[in-house]
Amino acid sequence: MTADKRIEEIIRAISAKDTNAADMYHALSGETRQKVLKTLSADGLKTLTKLIKENKKKRFAVANKRFLEIAAGDVTTPVYLIDETLIEENMRVLQYVKDRTGCKIFHALKSYASFATFPMMARYLDGTCASGLNEARLGYEEFKKEVHTFGAAYTDKEIAEILRCSNSIIFNSFYQLEQYGKAAWKSGVQIGLRVNPGYAEVTTDMYNPCSPNSRLGIIQEIFNKEFPKHKGIIDGLHFHAMCEQNSDVLERILKSFEKLYRPYIKGLKWVNFGGGHHITRDDYDIGLLIRLVNTFKKKYGVQVYLEPGEASVLNAGVLIASVLDIVQNEAEVAIIDASAETHMPDVLLMPYRPNIMESGQANEKKHTYIIAGPSCLAGDVVGDYSFDEPLKRGDKLVFTDMALYSIVKSTTFNGINLPDIAVVRDGGEVEVIKQFGYKEYRNRQS
Ligand SMILES: Cc1ncc(COP(=O)(O)O)c(C=O)c1O
Repeated sequence: MTADKRIEEIIRAISAKDTNAADMYHALSGETRQKVLKTLSADGLKTLTKLIKENKKKRFAVANKRFLEIAAGDVTTPVYLIDETLIEENMRVLQYVKDRTGCKIFHALKSYASFATFPMMARYLDGTCASGLNEARLGYEEFKKEVHTFGAAYTDKEIAEILRCSNSIIFNSFYQLEQYGKAAWKSGVQIGLRVNPGYAEVTTDMYNPCSPNSRLGIIQEIFNKEFPKHKGIIDGLHFHAMCEQNSDVLERILKSFEKLYRPYIKGLKWVNFGGGHHITRDDYDIGLLIRLVNTFKKKYGVQVYLEPGEASVLNAGVLIASVLDIVQNEAEVAIIDASAETHMPDVLLMPYRPNIMESGQANEKKHTYIIAGPSCLAGDVVGDYSFDEPLKRGDKLVFTDMALYSIVKSTTFNGINLPDIAVVRDGGEVEVIKQFGYKEYRNRQS
């Protein structure tokens, strides 16, 4: 079929609100997708956005059943099980934002760095963002596209290697810029400065880069004084002030950022809007994000970068654990072979209560248990959950949304084994890609 025929067909499918339109759109080449977007009216674009979101939602619902089926089989636990097909669904949504705005999107390695799925992700995204040397190197060697590095403070020992692996380096202070800016400039690495945008809506201080006395991002008062001296070598500005948020929050942050830094934006190459954009969440307003990016680009003539982490792998992985024992106190406590402390540390840090498939809140279903980990930490408790049937030793529990910030943060405290890492590829085959044991524990001690 010719490209023109395919375009006609997809426009017809969009007008008919046919959900197949989303798959048809994703299957086109970048050039043909642009032609489709140019042909569509504003209403047509809105419909396409809706169809893409609905299509993704449907795929996730089907895959959730697959997680349960795999858990019911003979899978060894504990295991982080990543569904590559679901990450690809998220990638398609991110690619759609790129198509509509021409912005660049970099996956934040800090949230997820299981490089077994990087070849697929690299087909959709422009590269990775790194927090320092090791992530920059992983992005460079495994994702094999652009690498954009921000670290709160770099060292003499690592700077040359960071520059070798990075396309841009973002400094957190004018002191660091003075230390390493010349080396970056000589290596042809673009230079950015992280600024404090002066506004955030993150309610947990632990996750708020704009909390009082934050070390993350130069404040406006210092920026105004120092920037003119260094203007000649600065390619871009970076801010990061969001955490699991929607585009209305970005709109308010941009208002504050523009108010503080407007005189300095024109003439730069790019502005990096950081991470924390929950673009692939069902209720995320993609239309508003697209409008904000396009307006900003037009107003200042700069490229816009986004560096989400969670959005790449949102809901695309689970942690499967087995019940080892059930002990009795005033309540029944189920001890499982996964630990909140070592395998899902944000549960304790944030804190939050992860979802377990087919469970309810305490007392919502007939049988309530405290679910707790095997470590010596008294507080290694995941939470209170209820089930239709009594739990038995050997039962498997499926914790949802565990691809993000769990694998990268896991530890071997108490000598507890790290969970296996397994990937479900297209076709449903489960591939165990990593198993850990005594060696990993021992190596990290001395
Ligand atoms: C500088 C920076 N960029 C990107 C991210 C990724 O954020 P998220 O995974 O919430 O999208 C973070 C998260 O802390 C960050 O600090």
